[in-house]
Amino acid sequence: MSLSPLELAHRLSRLEADLDASLVSPSKAVKIHPTAVVEDNVSLGPGTSVWDNAHIRHDTSLGEDCIVGGKSYIAYGVQIGNRVKINAFAYICNAVTIEDGVMISAGTIFTNDRFPRAATTDLKSLYSSDPDEHTLPTRVREGATLGAHCTIGNDLEIGRFAMVGMGSVVTKSIPDFHLAYGVPARSVGAVCRCGEPLMRFPDVAQFEEAVSCDRCGLTYHIKDRVVTEWTPPG
Ligand SMILES: CC(C)(COP(=O)(O)OP(=O)(O)OC[C@H]1O[C@@H](n2cnc3c(N)ncnc32)[C@H](O)[C@@H]1OP(=O)(O)O)[C@@H](O)C(=O)NCCC(=O)NCCS
Ligand SMILES: [Zn+2]
Repeated sequence: MSLSPLELAHRLSRLEADLDASLVSPSKAVKIHPTAVVEDNVSLGPGTSVWDNAHIRHDTSLGEDCIVGGKSYIAYGVQIGNRVKINAFAYICNAVTIEDGVMISAGTIFTNDRFPRAATTDLKSLYSSDPDEHTLPTRVREGATLGAHCTIGNDLEIGRFAMVGMGSVVTKSIPDFHLAYGVPARSVGAVCRCGEPLMRFPDVAQFEEAVSCDRCGLTYHIKDRVVTEWTPPG
C-alpha cells in the first residue's frame, strides 16, 4: 500500500499525538504509599500522591496533582478536582464534592446525615451505610481553604476561595471569598484568591468598597458582603 505524502504526514502526526498521550513524565506519575488502601474503580489523575495508611474507597475520583495526606479516609463516590490538597487525618464522606485547588487541612471532618442513627428503632438491625434520602450533599467550591480540624455540616456549600478558620463548625453555606470562623462559623470579612485578608466587614448591612490586595494586587468590588472579582487572573 502506498500513501501520499499528505496521508503519511497525517498518520505520523496522529502517531505522535498518541505517543504523547501515553507517555507520562516521571514527575507526573501517580504515587501510592504501600500502606495506603485504594479500592477498585478509583481514578487518580497524573501527579497525584496518596500517603501512608490513607484509604480511598471505590468509585471515587481525584484529578491531577492532588495530595491525600496520611491516615485520611475518602468514602466511595466522592468527586475531587485537580490540585486539591488533603492533609493528614481528614474524613471525607459520600455526597461530598470538592472542586479544583481546594485545601483541606488536617483533621477536617465532613458529615452527610443530619439526624443519624446506627440501628432501627428496636435496635435489632443495623441501618445500611449506603446513601438514601437522608444523605445530604456538601460542595467545596474552587480555591477554598478549610482550616485544621474543621467540622463541616451538610446540605451546604463552601464558596469559591472562601477561607474557613481552624476549628470551625460550619452549619450554613459560606459565600465566595468570605473569611469565616468559629462555632458556629460566621463570616467576618473577605479574603483574596491568594489568601490575604481584604477587609473586615463593618457592622452595617449596607456598604460598598473597592479593594485591592496588598499581597498580589488583585482587585475586588465588595457590596453588602457580596464579593465580586474585578481582575481575576488568566
Ligand atoms: C481564621 C484566621 C485566618 C484568622 O486569622 P487573622 O485574620 O490573622 O485573625 P486574628 O489572629 O487577627 O484574630 C482575630 C480574632 O479572631 C479570633 N480568631 C482567629 N482565628 C479564629 C478561629 N479559627 N476560631 C475562632 N476565633 C478565631 C482571634 O482570637 C481574635 O479574636 P479577638 O478579636 O477576640 O482577639 C486564622 O486564625 C486561621 O484559623 N487560619 C487557618 C490556620 C490553619 O488551619 N492552617 C492549616 C494549615 S497549617
Ligand atoms: Zn491577593
